[in-house]
Amino acid sequence: MTYVHRRPSWTIREARATPEAAFLNRRSILLGMGFGLGAAALPAASRAQDADPTADLYPASRNDAYQLDRELTPEEVNANYNNFYEYGTYKQVAEAAQQLRIRPWEITIDGLVDKPVTLQFDDLARKLPLETRLYRHRCVEAWSMTIPWTGFPLKALLAMVSPQSGAKYVRFETFLDPEMAPGQNDFLYPWPYVEGVSMAEAANDLAFMVTGAYEKPMVKQHGAPLRLALPWKYGFKSIKSIRKISFVTEQPVGLWQAIQPSEYGFWANVNPDVPHPRWSQARERVLHTGEMVPTLLYNGYAAEVAGLYKGMDPTVLFT
Ligand code: MTE
Repeated sequence: MTYVHRRPSWTIREARATPEAAFLNRRSILLGMGFGLGAAALPAASRAQDADPTADLYPASRNDAYQLDRELTPEEVNANYNNFYEYGTYKQVAEAAQQLRIRPWEITIDGLVDKPVTLQFDDLARKLPLETRLYRHRCVEAWSMTIPWTGFPLKALLAMVSPQSGAKYVRFETFLDPEMAPGQNDFLYPWPYVEGVSMAEAANDLAFMVTGAYEKPMVKQHGAPLRLALPWKYGFKSIKSIRKISFVTEQPVGLWQAIQPSEYGFWANVNPDVPHPRWSQARERVLHTGEMVPTLLYNGYAAEVAGLYKGMDPTVLFT
């Protein structure tokens, strides 16, 4: 590590993570779109807020172009195994994440766009039609989940603000409020969490802005009220609780890239043949079964995204 003395928990070797998988193992499996064990079966920290002003937008229509070849992860598993370093460096942050205050939630879209705007999340959620997509999610730590996200394509947001030709990247930034997020008092991390994508990636159909999951507003631990889902990339690119979206010329430097660029790069595309410097990426642990399954190139989305990287140096694309 460079200046970090402690390893983030996601650098823990797979062998040390498996007891948790055993704990989570053999839960009831939910198929298709009838996900629910129902809110009553979930701990308070897993329930979407009843008073959420966008609750009436759910369930959103299903976009059938996005299918899965594996089971959905049960809701209570995904809601209780999270990476949200603003609330702790371990997976059981669901309770702590309830400190996140998600109303009012102002979002600023600025930089090289014709129509910069600052608006409330509730207004944004009503401006762009919401849809539900079934997506894979592959963490760089070699665990994976499948999840029914609801949201809108990032390209719809691009159309709303009209990027200028000088815009080369989209930079996303999370909130900064150490009083509300105790993890942000940890000076070893360069807060706030930042991530970015190229303009071509942002315009790709798969890039998705998430507002909900399991047919209701997203719970806080998933990054309410607005997060990104980039299913062909390692999960750390899918930034949570977004406050600011900027169109820029310089390649943004993400939080993990700033800490350890040799291990967490800008592109971070999933590739089973390119190991992380400290572990293999060939296989992944399915969160709710503990089963180890082969990882796929671009996490199974090569047909949709491989064309984005034609002619680029392959040595930088998969870290
Ligand atoms: N966004 C913020 N703001 N803070 C984080 O710690 N962790 C990332 C990503 N987005 C993270 C974040 C990582 S490493 C992963 S794998 C996913 O969120 C986890 O999403 P989940 O907890 O909803 O499964």
